[in-house]
Amino acid sequence: MLKVNAFQPEQAAALDAAERSLIERRQRLLGPAYQLFYDNPLHLVRGAGTWLYDTAGRAYLDLYNNVASVGHSHPRVVEALARQAAALNTHTRYLHEGVLDYAEKLLATMPAQLGNVMFTCTGSEANDLALRIARDYTGGTGVIVTRYAYHGMTAAIAELSPSVGDYVPLGRDIRVVDAPVHLPQAPQRVGQLFAAQVRAALADMQRHGIRPAALLVDTLFTSDGVFADPAGFLVEAVEAVRAAGGLFIADEVQPGFGRTGTHMWGFQRHGLVPDLVTMGKPMGNGHPLAGLTVRPEILERFGRNASYFNTFGGNPVSAAVGLAVLQVIEDEGLQENARLVGAQLKEGLEGLARDNACLGQVRGAGLFIGVDVVAPSGAADGATARRIVNLLREEGMLIGVSGADNNALKIRPQLCFSAQNVEQFLGALQRVLRQL
Ligand SMILES: Cc1ncc(COP(=O)(O)O)c(C=O)c1O
Repeated sequence: MLKVNAFQPEQAAALDAAERSLIERRQRLLGPAYQLFYDNPLHLVRGAGTWLYDTAGRAYLDLYNNVASVGHSHPRVVEALARQAAALNTHTRYLHEGVLDYAEKLLATMPAQLGNVMFTCTGSEANDLALRIARDYTGGTGVIVTRYAYHGMTAAIAELSPSVGDYVPLGRDIRVVDAPVHLPQAPQRVGQLFAAQVRAALADMQRHGIRPAALLVDTLFTSDGVFADPAGFLVEAVEAVRAAGGLFIADEVQPGFGRTGTHMWGFQRHGLVPDLVTMGKPMGNGHPLAGLTVRPEILERFGRNASYFNTFGGNPVSAAVGLAVLQVIEDEGLQENARLVGAQLKEGLEGLARDNACLGQVRGAGLFIGVDVVAPSGAADGATARRIVNLLREEGMLIGVSGADNNALKIRPQLCFSAQNVEQFLGALQRVLRQL
């Protein structure tokens, strides 16, 4: 799954000598674990707003990189970073107002019950810490995740991220459930079906003497193929987990920071208050900033007994960057932009899906949209999805794929994506569909 849309070395013959040499050097220095995207890999040198530029100066409209979510190289974020880096950068073992100003502003975006925030550098570390806190509080070890979930790369978190692939075994205490299905004709069934699986997983844990610690989900199920509707479908499953003594951890690494348009956080679409919320990616607009928020009563004992330190997490530069990101989201109305432009993009994609048999369901919220690519039989068609992604790259449009069969086009542009950008993308997609 992590190898989706990966460059295959046997495609190198089609590339020019300079690119082949760079790929060879990379392979020699970085070893075999890293992947490049696209049959024709990109060599980018600059980004601004919703655009990326390659060595030849060619522009690419970016509908993939949700990290620089307020726009590539946003001047206010860059300025905040440079100003604080020029003044001081240490860590959280000294008094500094910056980290507290940021903590206050971040917590103010959350329900009041989530009263504490802790900082890390990656989403993986945030989930790892959340897992430790949940296991400490509940005394349980069992975790329920979805079948193609991705929550990160630490040893503990890779064991509960099935999409890392079979080579990394699932932990003994991990139970996997299918992501919620998309049932526009029977929306009330979505939550019931998901909760039934969660109850079965809890029963299976009990049978094996495993106490549950948490249900951990990405609230937009982005690596499962993007499942957003109907808002509220998570409630019944969360109730079941809590009744069994477990916690609800909302992984907001992908849906958070206004991307869903209607809310700042994906869990808010479900009317839920999680026990822990993990976040990362867009939090620092590209600067490595991540963390979690938690109910103070859940953190209390862990915090007292297992004191926490992260060398880079929550340092003054990261705090300045994080604060600037929140201010930009607010000042530029980016959450509302995600709602309006996301609706326009979704509507356009639904129109294309009506006219093109190879496009199936269109799902998503705000500026995170998944579009299934299907064969004439209706079966998932990962090969055609891959072709579409690569043809779009040649058109100067960057998207990705996700889902069980790698057949869901994954479309998640910067939050400053404009109505004009939507038209540019839909035009390109239409041209690509005609080439199939
Ligand atoms: C839902 C989700 N959780 C956690 C992570 C891990 O974040 P990081 O790569 O910053 O460790 C990712 C990364 O893709 C993610 O998509």
